[in-house]
Amino acid sequence: ASCVLAYSGGLDTSVILSWLVERGYDVHAVYVDLGQPCEDRGAILEKAKRIGAKSARLVDAKEELCRDFAFPVMQWDARYEGVYLLGTSIARPLIAKVCLQVAREVGADTFAHGATGKGNDQCRFQLAAEALQPGIKVLAPWRLAEFREKFPGRKEMIAYCEQKGIPVKATAAKPYSSDENCLHISYEAGRLEDLSVNGVELVEFGMTTPPQRAPDRVEKVTIAFESGVPTRVNGESLSAYEIVNRLNQIGGRNGVGLVDMVENRFVGMKSRGVYEAPGMTLLYFAHRQIEQLTLDRDVMHLRDRLAPEVAELVYYGFWYSAKMDAFLAMIREIQKPVTGEVTLGLYKGNIFVDRRTSPNSLYDEGIATMEAGGDYNQSDAEGFLRIQGLPLRVQARVRPRTY
Ligand code: ARG
Ligand code: SIN
Repeated sequence: ASCVLAYSGGLDTSVILSWLVERGYDVHAVYVDLGQPCEDRGAILEKAKRIGAKSARLVDAKEELCRDFAFPVMQWDARYEGVYLLGTSIARPLIAKVCLQVAREVGADTFAHGATGKGNDQCRFQLAAEALQPGIKVLAPWRLAEFREKFPGRKEMIAYCEQKGIPVKATAAKPYSSDENCLHISYEAGRLEDLSVNGVELVEFGMTTPPQRAPDRVEKVTIAFESGVPTRVNGESLSAYEIVNRLNQIGGRNGVGLVDMVENRFVGMKSRGVYEAPGMTLLYFAHRQIEQLTLDRDVMHLRDRLAPEVAELVYYGFWYSAKMDAFLAMIREIQKPVTGEVTLGLYKGNIFVDRRTSPNSLYDEGIATMEAGGDYNQSDAEGFLRIQGLPLRVQARVRPRTY
């Protein structure tokens, strides 16, 4: 039998790769390059071959991740449970898609992954796979009792690697587990499971200087958008990935975008996570400034009401679904006028607006001014409010309020 494995090079997927080989699978290891900031790609592919992969390849999907996945979610202003920018949730369906493309190419009938049976990632991998290729077999070794019996903990996995001659990174000693791509790095489990442990103090961040150690001066950054898509940073035209990467550097050195939260997983349990997403945090903030100038009020309010639904859908793993298709089409339409430029001031984790401009601005100083004149006739407000007040007056007559 032949399978593709979503391979990260970490301890879990390395053990799984070896275990699959042991069970007689031809394993095609796929490392999806999503701009992981801290990983050594060459070493990872070499390791896969050494463990016994039939083939090992890197597929570069970082532009696609930013352009087609992260930016629409940012345009939706989607944050799971009001906080989490979904950096892992967004990446999983794309990893699944890439793996299925490889599966088709090499003639594999199985998609194997290293997500556990307790988490969200298994949902995203599997739901994406079912939507894209209904016949595919999904193999998640962590959900098999025999695999869990063989590897009850990290200790057994490390011992297995030593016995098989699989190199184990010394950094495996970190007291938490992480998942990284260019959008964010997440930290969970290990010592973070204890809510009395301060996450920002414990975690060694990969992109972000903690606010208290950030420079003691304001750094300004200018971001331009065209129809909701970020196109330039400080006047320089950049690709989607380059924008995220550049903003990770700028936001990161100013301590922007750290989150420590307790979230509800799709499988029902509450889980504690620490996140860093400096670049995406800047984009979310900057993008909203341009929307404030360019979006119709009711369109914006409608989008804001639906945003939690989008976040939930993405978090649960329904990227490839009819509802998500509709949401993506809707946001594309809504974003048409969202063009402009905003300059932000960054200071020790804080973001301030310096100035913003747009050729499509609906903001009219002549209408808004508190000075005399302009196109707004205050006398019109009289009738407007008499009519708005009609039901209130009728209710008050029938059922007087005590006050
Ligand atoms: N809790 C986050 C989410 O569900 C992060 C998951 C991290 N996954 C991982 N394999 N470390 O999106
Ligand atoms: C896992 O369980 O594999 C990681 C955490 C998650 O998917 O939520």
